[in-house]
Amino acid sequence: MKRTKIIDLLNMHPSQVTTPPRPLERGTGGEAGTVCAKGWVRSKRGSKGIFFIALNDGSTIKNIQIVGEDQNFDEATVKLITTGACISVEGKLVESPAAGQAVEIQATKIEVLGACDATYPMQKKGQTFEYMRQHAHMRLRTNTFGAVMRIRHNMAMAIHTYFHEHGFFYFHTPLITASDCEGAGNMFQVTTKNLYDLKKDEQGKIIYDDDFFGEQTSLTVSGQLEGELGATALGAIYTFGPTFRAENSNTPRHLAEFWMIEPEIAFMDQEELMDLEEDFIKYCVRWALDNCQDDLAFLNQMIDKTLIERLQGVLKETFVRLPYTEGINILQEAIKNGRKFEFPCNWGDDLASEHERYLVEEHFKKPVIMTDYPTAIKSFYMKQNTPQGEGSVGYKGCVAPGPTMQGTDVLFPAIGEIIGGSVREESLEKLQGEIDRRHMDTTHLEWYLDTRRWGSCPHAGFGLGFERLILFVTGMQNIRDVIPFPRTPKNAAF
Ligand code: 4AD
Ligand code: MG
Repeated sequence: MKRTKIIDLLNMHPSQVTTPPRPLERGTGGEAGTVCAKGWVRSKRGSKGIFFIALNDGSTIKNIQIVGEDQNFDEATVKLITTGACISVEGKLVESPAAGQAVEIQATKIEVLGACDATYPMQKKGQTFEYMRQHAHMRLRTNTFGAVMRIRHNMAMAIHTYFHEHGFFYFHTPLITASDCEGAGNMFQVTTKNLYDLKKDEQGKIIYDDDFFGEQTSLTVSGQLEGELGATALGAIYTFGPTFRAENSNTPRHLAEFWMIEPEIAFMDQEELMDLEEDFIKYCVRWALDNCQDDLAFLNQMIDKTLIERLQGVLKETFVRLPYTEGINILQEAIKNGRKFEFPCNWGDDLASEHERYLVEEHFKKPVIMTDYPTAIKSFYMKQNTPQGEGSVGYKGCVAPGPTMQGTDVLFPAIGEIIGGSVREESLEKLQGEIDRRHMDTTHLEWYLDTRRWGSCPHAGFGLGFERLILFVTGMQNIRDVIPFPRTPKNAAF
């Protein structure tokens, strides 16, 4: 008999069983009212010759209840129905007398597809996330990880839908690259060379001419540079793929392999970029509230009691648009009034997560888009603000004491930086000037500079850290728990 997904069974009325709502899923060949469900046993209990199984197949957070009488089944089979076992059940879909579920299955036939003994690591309730990370391959079968993974899928759908509806083209940028977009040197090298027998020149530098690509290559930290080539040809593109960073950051917000979404748009200015960042993120949050109700309700109950309220809150708020210089003033004022921070925050310092969170969670109590960062703490490609004496003039005439760039990062409650973006420097002369000031090697950037040589145009874009979005939307605390198989320092298991 053909199996019906549990999500569809739970939405069926018993009287519909011969004509279920989704034709492709229709159970065929069975007697009227008979259905077949397959899945993994979440729990089994019994009393007075009757057993109850909570069965889950991953299609929804909800289990379907299977009811059976011991006498109708072979004893050995009933014994094998333990937590974690995979079973196939045929039976009658009936209205359930129990509270909290509309229907249940009165089992007539049960087949154990895969037994599961007591060594199954996801046996008990209330295991710590740390424990579950050690069994990341099996944690997917728990309620929490099922919910997180379904929401993750939904966010990917939301992102593709948003950009498609707004006329952006999905643009595929390479994972293997010879250039370092962020210039931070945090790259994982890609080579086919024998690392035990490296060819070196007289100065002891490795010679790459006999390597696969004939030069030094790495995994990309960002698709932006190639994305800019796409945007200056197609008008508006977005990338959505994995990126890799060998930063030794053992924090709950950093992964060595994470997914990034990078839209890049021709003819867009700073204000429009901030509008896009805000509209896009709200669209994703709204999508979750509209499409992931069961999973959010579960996470709201089990993980974070303020989750749904916080998601709804973000939709209502207008994000604050705050020049970095004004942000520093607010932080300085807080320090004067006795607020203590671990790290310094003078003009020119890169803000630590504690500073970002103070601004977002304590001062404004809403998301902040921070603009016009000091040039020295941002990447070379950002648009330079107009110099004024030693300083510069930026967003809405804000005067800064030093040179600034049109970066526009989105800072979120509980997360900190969720989006990093900027207007790009379109002038070849200014861009080249910045590259020279940073003593950057342009051997692998000439193709990028060609965008400024031939038909250069104003443009802007940003990168959203996909897992940071999932952290926000699920209320999970650790970025290792919102990607199926996390890659972090000293950890590449599974
Ligand atoms: O701010 P970042 O470094 O910006 C860029 O890479 C630009 N090229 C993006 C662009 O303008 N097209 O990274 C963008 C976002 C961050 O805001 C953060 O959400 C996420 O990527 N991110 C990380 N997420 C998880 N683990 C890490 N190690 C991350 N590093 C950055
Ligand atoms: Mg950043």
